[in-house]
Amino acid sequence: MAGEKDAAAQNATNGTGGNLEHLVPYEDLRDWIAETERLGELRHVTGANWQEEIGMAAEIVSHDDGAPAVLFGEVPGCLAGSRVLVNIFGGKRKNMTLGFPTDLGKVALSNAFAGIYHGNEKLIAPRTVDDGPIFENVMQGDDVDLEIFPTPHWHEKDGGRYIGTGCYHITRDPETDSINLGSYRVMLKDKKTVAHNVLPGRHANLHLKKYLARGERMPVAIVVGGDPLTFIMGGCDIPEGVSEYDVAGGLRGKPIDVVSAKVTGLPIPANAEIVIEGYVNMDRMEPEGPFGDWTGTYTEKGRVNPIIDVAAVYYRNDPILLGFAPQRLPDEYSRYRAIVRSPFLKKDLEAAGVPGVTATWCHEVGGSRMLLAVAIEQRYVGHARQAGHVASMCRTGVDANRWVIVTDSDVDVTNLDELIYAALTRADPAEDFDLIRGGKAQKSDPRLPPWEREVGNLVNSRMIIDACIPFHWRDDFPEINQPSADTLKRAREKFGYLLD
Ligand SMILES: Cc1cc2nc3c(=O)[nH]c(=O)nc-3n(C[C@H](O)[C@H](O)[C@H](O)COP(=O)(O)O)c2cc1C
Repeated sequence: MAGEKDAAAQNATNGTGGNLEHLVPYEDLRDWIAETERLGELRHVTGANWQEEIGMAAEIVSHDDGAPAVLFGEVPGCLAGSRVLVNIFGGKRKNMTLGFPTDLGKVALSNAFAGIYHGNEKLIAPRTVDDGPIFENVMQGDDVDLEIFPTPHWHEKDGGRYIGTGCYHITRDPETDSINLGSYRVMLKDKKTVAHNVLPGRHANLHLKKYLARGERMPVAIVVGGDPLTFIMGGCDIPEGVSEYDVAGGLRGKPIDVVSAKVTGLPIPANAEIVIEGYVNMDRMEPEGPFGDWTGTYTEKGRVNPIIDVAAVYYRNDPILLGFAPQRLPDEYSRYRAIVRSPFLKKDLEAAGVPGVTATWCHEVGGSRMLLAVAIEQRYVGHARQAGHVASMCRTGVDANRWVIVTDSDVDVTNLDELIYAALTRADPAEDFDLIRGGKAQKSDPRLPPWEREVGNLVNSRMIIDACIPFHWRDDFPEINQPSADTLKRAREKFGYLLD
């Protein structure tokens, strides 16, 4: 296997034009766990219950980038050998997950990922094989029992147990046959039933409409424990018609092995941990949720969504459920979104003709949407406003943005202290704050009045903060009281030991 992995190594161009080795060092979740163990970032917990303890522990570790991944085993009352894994996206393992050297900081990692994601447009289709570990255990028809798995009740006020958090749906376009992978939450209803939450516009929803127009039920397979890279692709905004399988294969430099699910024939990863297969039942709309949202709130009291009639469940021996439940921000989910989305904000600004953009960051505390930061080398009066308004309304910014802060290139926009200090000292609210009304909100926006949400009037306002030194009197702007780079270097050399 090592040879195959070496063969998959590829050069990746990072955002600064340098070359970095890109190698995804795992095939499946078990390889990933072994790599994380090697990095010293995995903790094992036995005996924690699904009713509240796994959720409690997940909450604590998910806010801290330095906290380990945790593998829970021996969950009382559940299938012997079954496990739950949480907090995959933190520490050095997030670099490993995306296939990059573990010494890259988050900005370099983010740029490196954007480099391969965009720069390497190689798509590699999956390879169909006859068999795989996913078929080690098969439950079909009356034998289906989803309650054997250690599905946690993640948050105190959730409306149920969520088996699908670190998961993705596999659906087929009935007209083109193209396969889509998309991450949508899945709630356990009973032994044989789950409910899911696929929002309008999602590719699985587009597929569903086509099946309904033909008078057919939509087949679906849901991977609730799979390799992290493919799961991450399921949450990325990949154009309709391009299969996330092919993108993940391209990033690995080799095809993903799939087997045909026994009832629907959908291609499922041969080495997945647990796969649920069935049909979306539009005649059974049932309560789904509430579930803690990506905004860190219980914005909605729950939804009414279609259930899925489960026809079969496949799982490996000692299966592992992958958990990725959102928490109050910042959390694991927002860490991952900040890293994969921030470079796209820069690309969008450049594509719109905004010059001199030196850095962008879609902040974790805003779930990578609500707070966007942009650094520029100012070139003309109005440049900062241009950058701010475009950032708020471009493809990456348009959904659910709340504040954009544009500042000068001397500010590290990834550092909240530096960013807010710049806004406090360089922006005068009456002069430098612009409001935009009628922006595109999401239903999950906690500040959206319930009556507007009810009627679908999903609009918000945004604030653009021009935190750049005023261009036309920049030479008179007070200097910051900080040592020169040379003095700072000498101070560190002489007195750095004081910080040890
Ligand atoms: C962990 C996670 C959970 C998500 N939950 C949902 C969800 O419940 N419903 C939804 O419509 N989108 C959800 N999303 C967002 C979609 O996965 C995302 O928009 C993705 O691009 C959808 O894939 P598609 O474009 O192929 O439909 C979630 C994303 C992640 C990473």
